[in-house]
Amino acid sequence: MNKLFALILAWAMLAVLASCGTNTGNTSSTETGSLNETASQESQKDHKEATPPNEVVLPVSSDTNILIAYFSRVGNTDFPEDVDAVSSASLLRKDGELYGNTQYVAALIQQATGGDLFLIKTEEKYPADYDETDQLGGKENKERSRPALASHVEGMSGYDLIYLGYPNWYYDMPMAVYAFLEEYDLSGKTIIPFVTSGGSGFSKSISEIQNLQPNAEVLTEGYKVTHSKVDGVTLEDIEQWLDSLEISG
Ligand SMILES: Cc1cc2nc3c(=O)[nH]c(=O)nc-3n(C[C@H](O)[C@H](O)[C@H](O)COP(=O)(O)O)c2cc1C
Repeated sequence: MNKLFALILAWAMLAVLASCGTNTGNTSSTETGSLNETASQESQKDHKEATPPNEVVLPVSSDTNILIAYFSRVGNTDFPEDVDAVSSASLLRKDGELYGNTQYVAALIQQATGGDLFLIKTEEKYPADYDETDQLGGKENKERSRPALASHVEGMSGYDLIYLGYPNWYYDMPMAVYAFLEEYDLSGKTIIPFVTSGGSGFSKSISEIQNLQPNAEVLTEGYKVTHSKVDGVTLEDIEQWLDSLEISG
């Protein structure tokens, strides 16, 4: 009987040792990915404990140093499913999917670069009604308010290149983008702005980004497109613009 017990014990110890060996010897690319995932999930857990419960955290992927951070009405507004994207100035549909103008350009930059896409999301949603959003945006701009953000980049230090996209709101960036820029130290990183607008282009936004992040390199050759033309922007257009940039590093 004792012999049987000793045998079972030895078998159990061997099984435990074998499982430890498998974990430490984990070097294939997919397995490395899942290890990173675990590390990321754990740091997300830590992050969540220190921040409000409605926090949305972007896990940093291991294989890109490019972040595409953008603000857009879509993602920050609860639109009815049948929202009119045809006559709207700031909405479009592609393959049945609803996009905000800036979101659409961000998605093309993501396709062209393979970077991580990140929506700058406010805790409070904006009204579905365009005019109401216009008024609220104007009020926020006047008050220089800083809407609380519900999304945060985890592992910002892992990114070297940040494409930053926003709609022009009142000849300026939406205040949520200020809140985003004030949340991180982007020293030593390159910021490449892109904007969609009714025609104002960047207005003063590029110098505002420079003021907020004085130790980052802010490219002035950002991408700009008016809202009536966003629908016609192609991946090739974005690739051509990317090719024209002189990005160091
Ligand atoms: C609150 C608000 C303010 C705006 N202010 C301007 C402006 O000053 N100049 C301009 O050209 N367009 C302005 N627009 C138009 C937007 O910049 C344009 O429709 C943009 O493409 C919307 O992008 P989105 O769909 O990603 O939100 C404004 C739109 C809103 C909602």
